[in-house]
Amino acid sequence: MCGIVGYIGKRDVAPLLLEGLQRLEYRGYDSAGVVITSPKATGLKMVKAKGRVRDLEARVPKRFTGTTGIAHTRWATHGAPSDENAHPHLDAAGKVAVVHNGIIDNASELRAKLTAEGVEFLSETDTEVITHLIARADAEKLEDRVREALRHIEGTYGIAVLHADFNDRIVVARNGSPVVLGIGEKEMFVASDVAALVSHTRQVVTLDDGEMATIKADDYRTYTTEGSRTTASPTTVEWEAESYDMGGHDTYMHKEIFEQADAVDRVLRGRIDDRFSTVHLGGLNLDAHDARKVRRVKILGCGTSYHAGMIGAQMIEELARIPADAEPASEFRYRNAVVDPDTLYVAVSQSGETYDVLAAVQELKRKGARVFGVVNVVGSAIAREADAGVYVHAGPEVCVVSTKCFTNTTVAFALLALHLGRIRDLSVSDGKRIIAGLRQLPAQIEEMLEREDEIKKLAQEFAEAKSMLFIGRVRGYPVAREASLKLKEVSYIHAEAYPASELKHGPLALIEPALPTVAIVPDDDLLEKNRAALEEIKARSGKILAVAHREQEKADHTIVVPKNENELDPILMGIPLQLLAYHTALALGRDIDKPRNLAKSVTVE
Ligand code: M6R
Repeated sequence: MCGIVGYIGKRDVAPLLLEGLQRLEYRGYDSAGVVITSPKATGLKMVKAKGRVRDLEARVPKRFTGTTGIAHTRWATHGAPSDENAHPHLDAAGKVAVVHNGIIDNASELRAKLTAEGVEFLSETDTEVITHLIARADAEKLEDRVREALRHIEGTYGIAVLHADFNDRIVVARNGSPVVLGIGEKEMFVASDVAALVSHTRQVVTLDDGEMATIKADDYRTYTTEGSRTTASPTTVEWEAESYDMGGHDTYMHKEIFEQADAVDRVLRGRIDDRFSTVHLGGLNLDAHDARKVRRVKILGCGTSYHAGMIGAQMIEELARIPADAEPASEFRYRNAVVDPDTLYVAVSQSGETYDVLAAVQELKRKGARVFGVVNVVGSAIAREADAGVYVHAGPEVCVVSTKCFTNTTVAFALLALHLGRIRDLSVSDGKRIIAGLRQLPAQIEEMLEREDEIKKLAQEFAEAKSMLFIGRVRGYPVAREASLKLKEVSYIHAEAYPASELKHGPLALIEPALPTVAIVPDDDLLEKNRAALEEIKARSGKILAVAHREQEKADHTIVVPKNENELDPILMGIPLQLLAYHTALALGRDIDKPRNLAKSVTVE
């Protein structure tokens, strides 16, 4: 998705902005651009390029100096990736420059109106209308011109505006797309993601929807789009700049897979209460009285977060005996669902910015529902919009393909399930049993990751497959779904996940030697049922890789995973399959951290 970075201060701005853009590369993009000026300059200097930030860098002339600027990485929505469509967009006089994240819903209407008034458009983007509206606004101050332009806009935006006649400031505005100010010593930053700022400052102010800000080198002020002042106190970003580095690994995906033991340790830290065999979840704001009144739990998320939510729903049903289910937020928000006051709605999102999840949360809140967030990024839109919630503390996840956040989110759900269970009918001994299981996880993850070489060998074989089937039953089914998603998004091999119980109802017709099946076979009450499925596949000459707690005789290969408590087994069983997806993609020479067509946070519909 698009990224914004801006700076105003005394330093040479172009290298700073290019570095900021590089730190946003992980979000996915197809073109980039930068515009700069300085207090003594009379105009703006701009460079744009289709392709990578390094392509942009190659075009930056030697004498491209200034101390104020804004820059952008674009992910095409209106108009193909090209130099012309890359941001920033300038008005005809070359005085107003705008970078924009989000989508302007009434762009064609505004474009037609402006064209009829004689404006010549240089790009196919929706963003360019904002530039022309600002240029044509009749007001003295830049802030008022931006405000006037935004009055015509319907849709979502995070924008940064630079004006040649007001080169002591950058004006920014937010509606549905993140904008964060970074406060330095006599210098200020702006970005759509703290990743672009943390190597310079960890003091940030996150704008709310409907808020604008003016940043100058030594000052900032925030106000609403109507013009009333707002008070925004800076907070400190927890994540260190180094957590965004590759740390000796070849890819972020590999690094993040190998960070999982530490990440799980973090999500557990300080939360376990041995005295009452439960957990404390500080941000939950749900007392025992309210918790007992919850009659259903509905979990909403997209992609990997939805899969973590499916695992969470099962844990809540098992441990707290509250009916629970998960649904893709992207579907939920469009189906006019019945919103029930006794249901606890849980929005799950690593980034906290996924538009479909945010829109579902807003719709639920409008209908009076109570919404909890299970989120990784502190202060993100969903975290702020939710009434309460749990942070998953996985640390920054840079690879587009989510791994450690999936694992930490499932652990966060285990904590929530245990908490609700112990308020309701989960016994002290079961509480103790689950706590002991949770404590074992980091060491078991380490043990699992030691099998990397074995999995790497298997991946060489799987890299030749055209398609793969993933099956699991009950607890194993969300694991199969997540493993199938991992494989397809990073290796581009077609993969399909099915409940093992459904084999006979159709997918068995696909089984043949060329279609490998990955089967999740936990050592639980359904072991024999799962073994029967393996028999059925073997009888049709299907090749099987089992992920199990002991060797499976019908499988061609078994990856043996350490056994935990039945309820917690899904947390561990996905990990070898993350490695399988990784090494398969590596064998196929894929761009592991930035799979084609995908973005890290999907902040548009
Ligand atoms: O940031 P979120 O957790 O809300 O993102 C949701 C999905 O877009 C995300 O999980 C996506 O499916 C990943 N690429 C999976 O690896």
